[in-house]
Amino acid sequence: MYGQVEFDLFDAIYTTRSMRRLKPDPVAPELIVKVIEAATMGPSGSNRQPWIFVVVREASTKAFVAERYRKAWEVYFTPRARELVANASDSPQGRILRSARYLAEHISDVPVMIFCCVKKYKDPARRGQPMQNAMFPAIQNLCLAARAYGLGTSITGLHQAYAKEIDELLGVPAEYANLALIPLGYPKGRWARPERKPALQVTCWEKWGNRASAIPES
Ligand SMILES: Cc1cc2nc3c(=O)[nH]c(=O)nc-3n(C[C@H](O)[C@H](O)[C@H](O)COP(=O)(O)O)c2cc1C
Repeated sequence: MYGQVEFDLFDAIYTTRSMRRLKPDPVAPELIVKVIEAATMGPSGSNRQPWIFVVVREASTKAFVAERYRKAWEVYFTPRARELVANASDSPQGRILRSARYLAEHISDVPVMIFCCVKKYKDPARRGQPMQNAMFPAIQNLCLAARAYGLGTSITGLHQAYAKEIDELLGVPAEYANLALIPLGYPKGRWARPERKPALQVTCWEKWGNRASAIPES
């Protein structure tokens, strides 16, 4: 039923940005599983697949997380950031902050929270560090697959300030890190191309610093 989505890959890539304003409408469990399945298609070192996705729809759990997310936001939203929103809210930075503030204020109302948990290393050199490089390809796949179903996502990390309490409530064991919280739902806003630097500006040819003002002939 939900398997057949015709969606151009580049359309998905070029219109997947943080969608922080979400409708409270529920998301079908089939779709939640589909986007998680797409996430699991992502690569990981030695194909360890060191991930577990915790899906939360319960209002009381969302409220618990929201309270902590908001507290972490209050710390992140420094006086300087507040000034920026007040005086230049239409600048790129101001837009991000306004949108992030909206999410912080409304995160309890999102229909689904997906907590992306990743195993921690066990070897002596890296013991206890999360295998986060192993999970971000999966997380981006999740966001792209959600886009194909018309579902908005944003990758967030502010909950980590209260990871201990949140993990205790969710039952996340100590050998996993709660890497990202992805609010998932139908967006209120419109899809648009993310604001990014031009590719040529961030590309060096053969050596660091060798930028081209146009695509080289060959
Ligand atoms: C690792 C990571 C952590 C992030 N944490 C947060 C967060 O806690 N709250 C939030 O609102 N956005 C968060 N973001 C979203 C970024 O702010 C956003 O992707 C960036 O501003 C670019 O905007 P765009 O996704 O709309 O293109 C995070 C993104 C990444 C990749």
